[in-house]
This record gives sequence, C-alpha cells and structure tokens, in this order.
Amino acid sequence: MSFLFSLLLLQGAPVAAPHAMPGEETVAPYAVDDRNAGAAPFVGDGMAKAFHGQDGIRRIVDNMVEFSFADAVIGEIFANQDKVRLKRTLFEQFCYILNAGCTYTGRDMASAHKDMGIQKADMNRLVEVLQRAMTAEGVDFQAQNRFLSKLAPMRRAVLQK
Ligand code: HEM
Repeated sequence: MSFLFSLLLLQGAPVAAPHAMPGEETVAPYAVDDRNAGAAPFVGDGMAKAFHGQDGIRRIVDNMVEFSFADAVIGEIFANQDKVRLKRTLFEQFCYILNAGCTYTGRDMASAHKDMGIQKADMNRLVEVLQRAMTAEGVDFQAQNRFLSKLAPMRRAVLQK
C-alpha cells in the first residue's frame, strides 16, 4: 500500500463506494446504515453457529443467488442484475441478521426492489430457493424457520404495491 493511500485511509477520506468489490456496477449514492438490513440481529451466537459461521452463510448466499438466476420462475427478474453486488450485499445482510460479525452496507429493502414488479408467487419461490440452499448447508429446520420468520416482515417492502 502506498504511503499516500495509507494516509488517506487514516484520515478517513471519502472514497467512492468503499465497500464495493471489483466487478460491481456503480449504484446511485445512498446512506449506509445497518438499519437498511430490515431486521434487528439475533442475540447471542446460536444462529451464527447453526449457519456454520461466515463460511456457511457465504455458501448459502452463493447457492441462493446462483439458483435464483437459473430459476425457471424468478430467473427473469434477476437477469441483467449485478450478481457480484447481490452476493456481497446479501451475504452482509444475512451475516448481520444472524449476528455472525458483519455490518450491512447495502440499500434498504424498499429501494433495492423498487419497480421490479415482484409478486407473492415470486416471494414464495425465493423462500423455496433459500430453503434449498440452507438444507444443502445442513442448517437444522428450527434455525431455518427462525431465520425465515425474521425475513417475513420484509415482504411488505419487497412486493410491488
Ligand atoms: C425478504 C425477502 C428478500 C430479501 C431479504 C432480499 C434482499 C436483497 C438484498 C440485500 C439486495 C441487495 C441490495 C443492494 O444492492 O443494495 C437485494 C436485491 C435484489 N433482490 Fe432481493 N430480497 C428479497 C426478496 C426478493 C425477491 C422475492 C426477489 C425476486 C424474486 C428479489 C430480487 C432481487 C433482485 C433482482 C435484486 C438486485 C437489485 C439490483 O441489483 O439493483 N428479492 N435483495
């Protein structure tokens, strides 16, 4: 790391999209806040352990995103969206909510899903895809259901009005 760059970091100089990974498309600026994740985290480390920590959460999210893009029902909603960003932000969101040691830097749920035309059937399908990914990781059903209950109230923000 160059001296100048280290100095900038130390001074907390603003950097464009500091959380973005290489390969991500740029998005319109927004205020970063853990509350954008849409749910308060679980207390304690039980849920993080049930999901096998950050490694397990990453495997679940990667599978969920790949299944969603390839899915016959909801695949077309994901077509042309930024898969690199979605994998990162979804991982952060799940990791934050599961209290596995992350902060969430993505957009709030209403902004992220605005004008996508998402219907109830799409939501149900996504839940099935997530269940498949959690089961593939060996997450027990009680922990799966506790997590799904946390996500359930976000339906209102995601579904097309
Ligand atoms: C409770 C349910 C859901 C949660 C927790 C969730 C979570 C997220 C998160 C964290 C992001 C990324 C935000 C960002 O880029 O800053 C996102 C984006 C996205 N979501 Fe969801 N989502 C949900 C439901 C759905 C459903 C039902 C669909 C479609 C079937 C969907 C399709 C998408 C797409 C296509 C994007 C990419 C948007 C873009 O790149 O501009 N989501 N979602």
